[in-house]
Amino acid sequence: MKKKKIFVVAGARPNFMKIAPIVRALDASRAFETSIVHTGQHYDHNMSGSFFAELGIRRPDYNLEVGSGSHAFQTAAVMMKFEEICLKGQPDYVMVVGDVNSTIAAGLVAKKLSATLIHVEAGLRSGDRLMPEEINRLATDAITDIFFTTEKGATGNLVSAGCSPGQVHFVGNVMIDNLFYQLGRLEEAAVSDEVAALKERLCGRYICLTMHRPSNVDNPEVLETILASVGELAREVPVLFPCHPRTRKNITRFGLDGYLSEAGINGGAVEQGFLCMPPLGYNDFLYLWKDAALVITDSGGLQEETTALEIPCLTIRENTERPVTVEVGSNLIVGSDSDRLKAESRKALSGRWKPCAVPELWDGRSGERIKMVLEGSCGI
Ligand code: UD1
Repeated sequence: MKKKKIFVVAGARPNFMKIAPIVRALDASRAFETSIVHTGQHYDHNMSGSFFAELGIRRPDYNLEVGSGSHAFQTAAVMMKFEEICLKGQPDYVMVVGDVNSTIAAGLVAKKLSATLIHVEAGLRSGDRLMPEEINRLATDAITDIFFTTEKGATGNLVSAGCSPGQVHFVGNVMIDNLFYQLGRLEEAAVSDEVAALKERLCGRYICLTMHRPSNVDNPEVLETILASVGELAREVPVLFPCHPRTRKNITRFGLDGYLSEAGINGGAVEQGFLCMPPLGYNDFLYLWKDAALVITDSGGLQEETTALEIPCLTIRENTERPVTVEVGSNLIVGSDSDRLKAESRKALSGRWKPCAVPELWDGRSGERIKMVLEGSCGI
């Protein structure tokens, strides 16, 4: 049988964790010839290259190198460059993951060239159309042929929107496949000296913070409110803050550097402080957050990963497209209410948290399930 050509597209940091287990599974299939397409939406070493190296993803077969720009510019740039390689490579299937600009851009190109479009992490909805990712999710799912979902609610959303149940496959969460795989290798993986030394200097409890959503970091008042609230907590317990480039630039632009202290390799025990550092590689960050007393974040992926390890997580957003992390998991939505953020943080720090469990099929085998469904779709 002639192998089917499949292009697996990734562009931004949260995409790389998702494609790693899928590409491993597809590479082991005799049904597919798999190519990795990196759009280049993220391009800094610590936002992109380091993930390929650490997650065990082979080098991309194509790199479109689109870089940063406005939404229209970035989406259009991916479309133009992706169309060129699709015209040359003639993929039978195009797989997109998540909800970033690269997801919808590649999806549109694929459909207009009549490839079968596969969306992994389909059907999630925050209900908030001010979020660029929500528009990407709605638009991608409107043209997808084969949907893979991470939670049953997402399947329900798709079926309610008119998708045929036969097109939608609940397979669990590839982000968690990657998490378990990386945890299993963390002992021998290279955690940087700087991060290992920092963790040794922490005296027990600490918080990890990440934030990069435009709704939190592009507005000076909102950003300052969050920094001030977390800054108060940081006087009681260290807060480790690997800072996304967008956030870092805005902190300086809005004159808010005074809230932070930089985390260095030297020095004694760290008993408190708001320790800001550049974005970390996957393993360095995992090594820190897996033992945190609390994670505070606006990331979608981290809401899921903390749920999988049952670590208390406070989400600084008004909603989540991943409700299972709240209903079943360790996640709580606190929005931008600073009193609530501080009160819930103190609860977590004192070991009082809601009962939680790991959602159905978040078991490390989702990539394998995706492979089996796709093999079935081409008659294997
Ligand atoms: C994008 C995704 C978001 C995802 C996030 C993870 C969209 C609409 N948003 O947001 O869903 O959660 O990635 O990080 O696709 N920059 C660098 N180096 C890089 C990449 C970006 O310095 O390698 C800076 C640039 O100033 C750029 C800004 O970060 O303009 C924003 O990057 P962009 O890819 O547009 O969006 P993110 O905020 O990263």
